Amino acid sequence: MILVTGGAGYIGSHTVLKLLERGFDVAVADNFINSKTKVIERMKKLAKRDFSFYETDVREKDQLDKIFSENKIDLVIHFAGLKAPGESVDKPLEYYANNLDSTIALTCAMNEHGVFKLVFSSSAAVYDLRSDMPLDEASPTGNCANPYGRSKRMCEQILTDAVNANKLRSVALLRYFNPIGAHESGQIGEDPQDTPNNLMPYITQTAVGRRSRLYVYGNDYDTPDGTGVRDYIHVEDLAAGHIAAIEYLENNHGVSVFNLGAGKGVSVMELICAFEKASGVEIKTEFAARRPGDSPICYASVDKAKTLLGWEAKKTIAEACADSWRWQKSNPNGY
Ligand code: NAD
Ligand code: WQD
Repeated sequence: MILVTGGAGYIGSHTVLKLLERGFDVAVADNFINSKTKVIERMKKLAKRDFSFYETDVREKDQLDKIFSENKIDLVIHFAGLKAPGESVDKPLEYYANNLDSTIALTCAMNEHGVFKLVFSSSAAVYDLRSDMPLDEASPTGNCANPYGRSKRMCEQILTDAVNANKLRSVALLRYFNPIGAHESGQIGEDPQDTPNNLMPYITQTAVGRRSRLYVYGNDYDTPDGTGVRDYIHVEDLAAGHIAAIEYLENNHGVSVFNLGAGKGVSVMELICAFEKASGVEIKTEFAARRPGDSPICYASVDKAKTLLGWEAKKTIAEACADSWRWQKSNPNGY
C-alpha cells in the first residue's frame, strides 16, 4: 500500500487517481489546509474504488503511528506542504515549520515502522536560476529566490542525510517544473484558495469571469516575445512520473534526483494564445512590471527521467489548456 500525504491537493489528487487506476492500494493523509473535502468523494467516484483517508496534519506523531499501524505501507509519496513562493516571503516560519517538520516527522515514523521508500515532491525552485538552461539534475542548486525554495532544498538535504545514515533506503527527489492541466473528466483540477499565484489558474479564472484581466508580469525580458519562459507540464504526465519513480525505487537504492518537466520553454504570451485557441475565449491582458524574484527563463532537461525512468511528458500544451478550461468551466468557483 502507498501512503500519499497531501493527496487531496492539486498534484496529489491526480496522482492518487492514477495509482488507484493502476491497481495500487492507497491511503491518503491531508489536513485540507489548501484543499477541499469534496475532492475525496470525486476521486473515489472517478476511480470506482475506495481508499483510506486520514484527516490529519502529517506532523502529528500519534496520527502517523496510527496510519502506519493500521496499514501495511510499502512506500510514501510526500506531497504535503505549503507551496506559494510569494506567501513564503511573508510567512517564512510557517513555511519552514510545515515543509521541514512534516518531512522530518514522516521520515522518523517511516523508520520506526520499517518503511524505507519515499518519493518526495521537490521543485525547480531548488535550482540556482542564474544557471544555464536547460537545468539538469547536476545544475547548481541554491541562491533560491524565496523561503519556499530554500525549504524544499533543505528537505532534499535532510532526506539525503537520512539515506546516508540508513534511516531510509530509497528516495526519489522529483523536481517538478510548472504543472498545469486537469483530469480529462473536468472533475478534479487546480483550485487555489485565494488569488492564484500561478499563471494557468489566473488565466482560467479570468476566462470564467472571476478576474477582470490577467496581468502579464514583464514584457521586456530577453526572450523571443519579451515575456517569461517556463516549462509547463500536464499534471497527468506528472502523475505518471510518480508511478515511474515508484517502479524505479523497487530496484534502486539511495537518493535519485529527477526533473519532471516537458523539457520545452513556453512564454506567457504563448500560453495565453494556446489557451484562447483551446477555449475559444479571449483573455483580457495587461502588461505589468516584472514580478520580484522571477527569472526570465526556466526549463528542464528531462533526459535523465527519460533514460532511467522510461518516462516523458506526452500531453501537449493545447491538451493541457483544454483540460484546464474544462475543469474551470465545469467548476467556476472550484470544488
Ligand atoms: P496543494 O497545496 O494543492 O497540495 C498540497 C496538499 O497538502 C493540500 O491538500 C494541503 O491541504 C496538504 N497539506 C499541506 N500541509 C499539510 C500538513 N502539514 N499535513 C497534511 N496535509 C497538508 O499543492 P500541489 O500543487 O498539489 O503541490 C504538491 C507538492 O508539490 C507540494 O509539496 C509542492 O511544494 C510541490 N510542488 C508544486 C508545484 C506546483 O506548481 N504546483 C511545483 C513544484 C513542486
Ligand atoms: C509563470 C510565468 C510569471 C502569473 C512557481 C514557483 C515554482 C513552482 C512552480 C512550486 C512567470 C508569469 C504569472 C500572472 C504572469 N512551484 N505570470 N501573470 O513562477 O515559474 O513558478 O510555480 O514549486 O517554485 O516559483 O510559475 O505560474 O507563477 O509563473 O505573467 O498572473 O507567468 O511572471 O513568467 P513560476 P507561475
